[in-house]
Amino acid sequence: MPSAARRPLISGNWKMNHNHFEAIQSVQKLSYLLDKDELAAVEVSVHPPFTDLRSVQTVLESDHIDIALGAQHCHFADKGAFTGEVSPLMLAKLNVRYVIVGHSERREVFGEGDELVNKKLLAIVRAGMLPILCVGETLAEREAGTTGRKVDRQVRAGLAGLSPEQVATAVVAYEPIWAIGTGRTATAADAQEVCVLVRSVVKELAGADAAAAVRIQYGGSVTPDNVVGLMAEPDIDGALVGGASLDADSFAAIATYGQRGAD
Ligand code: PGA
Repeated sequence: MPSAARRPLISGNWKMNHNHFEAIQSVQKLSYLLDKDELAAVEVSVHPPFTDLRSVQTVLESDHIDIALGAQHCHFADKGAFTGEVSPLMLAKLNVRYVIVGHSERREVFGEGDELVNKKLLAIVRAGMLPILCVGETLAEREAGTTGRKVDRQVRAGLAGLSPEQVATAVVAYEPIWAIGTGRTATAADAQEVCVLVRSVVKELAGADAAAAVRIQYGGSVTPDNVVGLMAEPDIDGALVGGASLDADSFAAIATYGQRGAD
């Protein structure tokens, strides 16, 4: 179990799935499946595509649903000539609370490097939102024994320039790339080991208080079945869920650590 001081965060990264009608249906079903006590014990966020954000915000706020609105990425500038991009201020205006930054799909498919990830992360924090910084190794890096070195570098580069107070409220998601969308999950013990490393790097960067407060998620083929073992580890404070978050039943089951079985 994670420390009682850290409220677990279960986040649904919908990626490029669900149009705004499907998004509305999905959050309405989720709110029907999760009761107030469940949402008090665990913080839940959903990260729909940009075109759905306003619709989901309206449903969450008008129905007083205690699920946080999240985004999947953003630009670092407040505004300007950046065709196709969305600024952190635009997201903050929609009451977005969490923004995923440095997801491996952004890093690998769209060529986002550590420096750009850090620029975006700082802009997210400046706009008053909380970053979910994704880090993790490829299969080749794991087999070469360089997981620790890569994750260490990504955490340092990603969080550079934040105050200890800002680090304390940030979220780091450890997502081994070989486990994303593949049905292969790191064992709970392997995930715990890397999460311990992340926390020790945060301690070096921002001190013991920030390290004790920062929330570290595991991501990569999380399901209602494997979430229980993962959440039993002391340094895993939540999950970043892709595929299994698209179905409200399975995402609700994950958010309740498998207690509410997926149909
Ligand atoms: P997955 O995706 O749960 O489908 O593996 C996780 C992620 O990419 O955040």
